[in-house]
This record gives sequence, C-alpha cells and structure tokens, in this order.
Amino acid sequence: MTLILGIDTSCDDTSCAVASDGREILSNVVASQIADHSEFGGVVPEIACRRHIENIISVVRRALSDADCTLGDCSAIAVTQGPGLVGALLVGIGVAKAIAYSRGLPLVPVNHLEGHIISPLLTPSAQCSFPFVSLVVSGGHTSLYVARDFGQYELRGRTVDDAAGEAFDKVAKALSLGYPGGPVIERLASQSRGDCISFPSPMIRHDNYDFSFSGLKTAVLNYLRFELGIASPQDASAKLEASMVSRICAGFQQAVFDVLIHKTLRLAQSEDISLIGLGGGVSANAELRKRLSDAARERGLHVLLPPKDLSTDNAAMIACAAFHHLEKNELAGLDLDAVPGLAL
Ligand code: KG4
Ligand code: ZN
Repeated sequence: MTLILGIDTSCDDTSCAVASDGREILSNVVASQIADHSEFGGVVPEIACRRHIENIISVVRRALSDADCTLGDCSAIAVTQGPGLVGALLVGIGVAKAIAYSRGLPLVPVNHLEGHIISPLLTPSAQCSFPFVSLVVSGGHTSLYVARDFGQYELRGRTVDDAAGEAFDKVAKALSLGYPGGPVIERLASQSRGDCISFPSPMIRHDNYDFSFSGLKTAVLNYLRFELGIASPQDASAKLEASMVSRICAGFQQAVFDVLIHKTLRLAQSEDISLIGLGGGVSANAELRKRLSDAARERGLHVLLPPKDLSTDNAAMIACAAFHHLEKNELAGLDLDAVPGLAL
C-alpha cells in the first residue's frame, strides 16, 4: 500500500489529503476561504496567500489524523505546481518541500488540471477505463482533452478568453449575488419557471472545440443596462425583482451549458470514444451533470461524474494523480518552483 500526502493551494482553498495507491481517499481536508473573498466578488490573491500561510499546518495535521496515519507512513509528498496564483502555489510548495526534506521523502509535482481530469475516476464505483473525453470546467479553465492514459492528455480545445466558472462569478457580481457565483446562480436558475431570458450560446456553431464566455458575460451586462436600466451591482440588488434575477440566471446558465455539452459530445463522437469525464468546480452543478448525462445516454455514451466534493478544488485528486508519477519516478528536486501558467 502506497500512501501519498497531497497538498493543493492553487487558488483560494487550502487543501491536504492522504490517498492510497492512487485510488482510495483516506482523508481530504479543504479549508475554504469563501468568507474572506465574497465581499470582493472574486479571489483577492494577497488575501488567499495569507490565509494559506495561516491554515496550511493545521490542514496538514487534520489530513493525517483523519487518515489515521503519520508522516512516517507516507511514501511521498505531492504538491500542485501550477496552474494557479503564484503566491498561493508557493505556500503549498514550501510546506511540501519542508516535509519532503525533513522526512527524506520523494517530492511529486502535479499539474492541477490533471487532478481535475482524473477526479471522475475517483468514485469507488468508477471503472477506470481509458480513453475518455475530459471536459474540465472551472474558475480558471474550460478545456476539452482526450485522456489516453494517466499522464497522456491531448488538448483539443479551450476557452479563448474567460473560463466558464469565471463567467458565473462575473455575472453573479453584476447581479450582486456574492462569490462564488456558480452555486448561487444554480440555485436561482432552478427557481425560474421555464421563462428564462435567452442569451446566445457563444461559438456553438464554430467548427472547433474552443469556447468563449467573455461575450456572453457582456451580453448579460448589456441586457441589464439597456433592457432593464441597471447600471451597477447596487442597482441590481435595489431594483431587480427576484423573478427577473432567476430568469437571467437560468438563461445565462443554459447558454453556457448548451455549448459545453454540444462540443463535448461532438468530440466524443468524432473520436469514437464512448466515455466522457467531467471535472472542475462547475461540474458540481446538478443541472450540468444531469443534462450532460442525459444527452450522452441518448447517443449511447456514458458520463463519469466526480463526487461533488471532488468537483471543486481539493488535494485528494492531487495525491491520486501523484501515484502514477511516483510509479514512473517523475519527481522534483528541492528547487521545485511554482509555474502559475503551467500547461497541460
Ligand atoms: O475548480 P474550482 O474549485 O477552482 C478552480 O480551479 O478554478 O472551480 C471554481 C469555480 C468558480 O468559478 C465557481 O463559481 C464554480 O467553480 N462553481 C460552480 C458551481 N460550484 C462552483 N459553477 C456552477 N455551478 C456550481 N454549482
Ligand atoms: Zn481547480
């Protein structure tokens, strides 16, 4: 049994987990910073770094005690190298290096996006079967890959501007709904009675696998300003009726999901791949999970969904991804540096 302690501090969650053999999650502790960032309508990098520094040691301790193990039981330390906020990444990397050095353990660098790609494989019931088409849809990324095996991911398309989660957060900010935007937009959208405001689904007819969400966000802002006379978030909270907010949320969410689902299914069909994996914070959305699963089933395809606590940022996916790198001896030295724009 190979136990790996994983750390993820790529954005605003301080997380540490212990996983066994790249599959079984023994603990997964996530210290959320939502309360620290919500008043700003988004993540404030300096605040995120300071909270990580404050929280990280107690989060590591709790991950070990929840897993009922000690550092002496671990075979390696894994850490997110990127992509993410540089100062935030450096906190996790510094702590991972200190543990690796003091215990003489191998240090395994992991790409955060690989964590999201493999997260749907981490349900106890999931049969790990490659290849699959992976849709990673988070606050920082919206990308389509063909996953051939652990460590073999072929990028087929990505957003050319904002990520889908980022668009949720920006639309929520314009409507004065707080941060993060995804969960609140999901809740309000579910309250609309089928009379949603219709917004165009960006790039849905483009013959590629890229996405764009910045124009959709602008379409919502223009609708607020020119159709409803709402010029600021303060205006929105003072003047908009709850039913109108729900109709806007539902229409925006539908436009995002239409294009995500359309391009994911098209890629799976053109590659003749029958399995689709969904990952990243937006994959916590019940409507997306249901619509993608239903549409896939109609075409004879199957969707693997991560458990909801593995959709958003977590270190369990990092500890599990690291197992396969450890097996191939893909290790880092103690000069490991953060790479905020690390590609995959
Ligand atoms: O993967 P994640 O935790 O962090 C990044 O790597 O970016 O994703 C966070 C993003 C945020 O933009 C948040 O609004 C979005 O995921 N999100 C959701 C939902 N829960 C979180 N978007 C739509 N519906 C949700 N239920
Ligand atoms: Zn993430």
